[in-house]
Amino acid sequence: MDDPLKGHMPMTPDPYEPSAHALEPRAWFRSDAPRLDLCGSWRFRLFPRADTGADPADDGSAGSWTDLPVPAHWQLHGHGSPAYTNVAYPFPVDPPRVPLENPTGEYRRWVELPADWPAGTTVLRFEGVDSRVQVWVNGTEVGWSTGSRLPVEFDVTAVLRPGRNLLAVRVQQWSAASYLEDQDMWWLSGIFRETVLLARPEGGITDVAVHAGFNSATGTGELRVDAVTGGGAPARLRVPELGVDVPAGEQLTLAGVEPWSAEVPRLYDGELATATERVPLRIGFRTVAIEDGELRVNGRRLLFRGVNRHEFHPDTGRAVDEATMLADVLLMKRHGVNAVRTSHYPPHPRFLELCDEYGLYVVDECDLETHGFFLVDWRNNPSDDPRWRAAYLDRARRSVRRDRNHPSVVMWSLGNEAGSGVNFAAMAAEIRTIDPSRPLHYEHDRSAANSDVYSRMYAPPSEVEQIGRRAEEPHPDPVADARRRTLPFVLCEYAHAMGNGPGGLAEYQALFERYPRCQGGFVWEWIDHGLRTRTADGIEFFGYGGDFGERLHDGTFIADGLLFPDRTPSPGLLELAAVIAPVRIAAAAGSGIAVTNRYDVRDLTHVTLRWALETEGAEIAKGELPTPRLDPGKTAVLDVPELPLTTGESWLTVRAELAADEPWAPAGHVVGQGQLLVTPAAPVPPVGAPARWAATVHIGGHIVGPAELDADGALRRIGDVPVDGLRLDLWRAPTDNDRGHPQRAAAGQGASLLAQWQAIGLDRLEHRVDDVRLADGALVVTTWVGAAATDLAMRVRYRWTADGEKAETAVRLDVTVEPHGPWDVPLPRLGLRTGLPAALDTVTWFGTGPGESYPDSSSAVRVGRFRATVAELQTPYVHPQENGNRRGVRWAELTGPDGGLRVEGLPTIDLTARRWTSEQLEAAAHPHDLAVGDRLWVNLDVGQSGLGSASCGPGPSPEHLFAATPTTFSLRLLPLARQGRSR
Ligand code: GAL
Repeated sequence: MDDPLKGHMPMTPDPYEPSAHALEPRAWFRSDAPRLDLCGSWRFRLFPRADTGADPADDGSAGSWTDLPVPAHWQLHGHGSPAYTNVAYPFPVDPPRVPLENPTGEYRRWVELPADWPAGTTVLRFEGVDSRVQVWVNGTEVGWSTGSRLPVEFDVTAVLRPGRNLLAVRVQQWSAASYLEDQDMWWLSGIFRETVLLARPEGGITDVAVHAGFNSATGTGELRVDAVTGGGAPARLRVPELGVDVPAGEQLTLAGVEPWSAEVPRLYDGELATATERVPLRIGFRTVAIEDGELRVNGRRLLFRGVNRHEFHPDTGRAVDEATMLADVLLMKRHGVNAVRTSHYPPHPRFLELCDEYGLYVVDECDLETHGFFLVDWRNNPSDDPRWRAAYLDRARRSVRRDRNHPSVVMWSLGNEAGSGVNFAAMAAEIRTIDPSRPLHYEHDRSAANSDVYSRMYAPPSEVEQIGRRAEEPHPDPVADARRRTLPFVLCEYAHAMGNGPGGLAEYQALFERYPRCQGGFVWEWIDHGLRTRTADGIEFFGYGGDFGERLHDGTFIADGLLFPDRTPSPGLLELAAVIAPVRIAAAAGSGIAVTNRYDVRDLTHVTLRWALETEGAEIAKGELPTPRLDPGKTAVLDVPELPLTTGESWLTVRAELAADEPWAPAGHVVGQGQLLVTPAAPVPPVGAPARWAATVHIGGHIVGPAELDADGALRRIGDVPVDGLRLDLWRAPTDNDRGHPQRAAAGQGASLLAQWQAIGLDRLEHRVDDVRLADGALVVTTWVGAAATDLAMRVRYRWTADGEKAETAVRLDVTVEPHGPWDVPLPRLGLRTGLPAALDTVTWFGTGPGESYPDSSSAVRVGRFRATVAELQTPYVHPQENGNRRGVRWAELTGPDGGLRVEGLPTIDLTARRWTSEQLEAAAHPHDLAVGDRLWVNLDVGQSGLGSASCGPGPSPEHLFAATPTTFSLRLLPLARQGRSR
């Protein structure tokens, strides 16, 4: 009979322990010592429970084992399924116990030690295994560990044999540690970072700690490199560029050193060497300090233009390769981002090297979150339970020891959303012992007891303003309050970039620039975690919570990034880039062009200023402006260049471009732009102007210039273009932000915009025609627009007049909208909607573009002439919703092979055009649910409400909500002949 305990986990003496037989944590570094990469194909078998019964001596070559790559998550290779919850633990909360149904992967791999593998110590290192790893070599257990996003090493010297060795690794999906790893992300398991065998030469380098500060007062570098070596062997530090060649541990003061910063990431190549091992070092001199209540790097106030980055790839989950990491870094740099919070765990170590090289400030967060206890009123929260202390300390040590040599890391974050408690005090003390050189961050503890900065998430601009003035609501504990009030302030999360949004970035940025205490923040979050998957019919899409059969899930809340899952920048990222652009260009008060250097360190000598003059979007002239020598924070006013005379609306666009290639972008990359109005548009004729050609009654309807309307006054045709009416529209397919925070909405807390709109029936408006008459040559149609069960309504009057050189050239429409009743709810939009033939598939417009914009997200667009197909006008949010609005359109031509329609705003109109209705857009769960219909649905709006950030944070500020007030607006419609020219 089989031994029932064979291969079973040995009973752990204490379930709260983080590991057994793991080596002391140490820095991640490169070395010339031999190493054996263990990535690649392993044998794998998934069991339903942790007591797999699999024999660690079974190599998996026979039976129902398969191949699985390392690094990878097994759920993304056909074993089990990904699952998404935000706060909720996906198992009964009974710490430290987890379900018996605990998917557990058994991994096997033969390792051939090369003949020249050195004698001496060999270490087996895992960079990341989710969530519990247990290891056998040649049938002998060597240890186990938890801490998914942290490295662990085991000494395997005693169990390794020359030649072939069998490695057996058991990975549980759930473990006690899962209670500490409740980050808002997919539950994905397995060996998801690299695994390696490391030869540790005798007298080699076990650990290294680089202390490289910069004294901004003297301009000197302070350098000490401490080494832990085998047997205390002597080690030397060499930095040839600085003439350094000294024993490790020596404290040096070096003159003429250039500091490291995110803007100028100066690194010095060095080497630490013993007689038997060489370790390359990249040294960046910089000092982080809190002085005078400000967080400073090298003596200068730091302004975080940051993002929260989870590691994510739509095909590989958190197993991200180097190309993906580099893509993230380059995208951040190109969009002006200068900082990353590694939410909510230490990233792959290579990512930090890239941050050192390319220049990004990093808030390195420990792998710790217990947010699910919030749902049980924080009962039994590990953070305040001394039994978990060892696990907390272990996590702190492993993060800080691994990453402390990176100049990019400017702050340690203790974790995210784990309540408060004694274990945080222990962690903070531990980190301060290991590395007193960096401030600490932890948001969840409002007393900031274990934090050197006051940190919040999603505080609305009004509160940030109070904090900026140090006039925030007091903390109940006066001592904590007094201390906290002196601390610098950061928003570790703000501007929830879920779906269409975030709105309001410019408001926050203005506060960060106005109040020295407000040192910026980190947008939530960098990328949508949509997993690439397929429908039964093979249509590819990005899945979110619930798409993988989860019983409990948090749906679309996982798609809340500035990048779409395939790393296409969303309009939100373009908006952020414009708001934080390092060079600001605007019309100066009075006259001239104001150029502001918003870098923290650099001057503008690396920038070329180019201008272009456009009339109605067509370029008339262009040139270069002299680049002013400007220190950070300074503004210069430049003369407007000599310009040709223009008639027609004309704009001068000035762009700041990189003069030469930078490591992160080619020459010509735009780092700031602004526009000045040179010649305004001609004024538009006022509403109520008499008709140039009289409207007439026709069989069953009316003719007004090129327009044909039916007896009820509904538009049926403009020239040859059939039209499905043109009437008031107040509805938009709700954005995720309109829907509000899903959990709060479910709990009935606070009414989202959507709930308010639905309550007054904006999603089910009925139009009643009250009057159709000819008056003064115009056709006037009066309607009443309201919803069942409410007396709130809009009285809408449409006045149609023929308005062209010839009667059939153009029709003008003046619309008067008068709210009836107590309208205290803002409107999604106010405008007109019509259906046109689908053949009109191209839009050319003069207005803002090229991308979409909304009232509180309009920094990234400029006035110009643009052209796009209808398909290109759509923004493919992972969860379909309102998108694609082009604001301030002076005119637009919607054309197909047989001509089309020109719309002119009088003076401007917002435009959206799509092949489905707002209702269809609203009903779609994924982009592939949107079937292309036979109409082109066009919205012509006076305006919409802003976007805000209410899916997790504040809604649009009041000035960006579209209030229901009496409104009149006008436009002209012109049929276009085949060539797209007006008749
Ligand atoms: C925060 C949390 C993040 C994320 C975000 C909402 O509370 O720290 O991890 O869940 O909300 O997307």
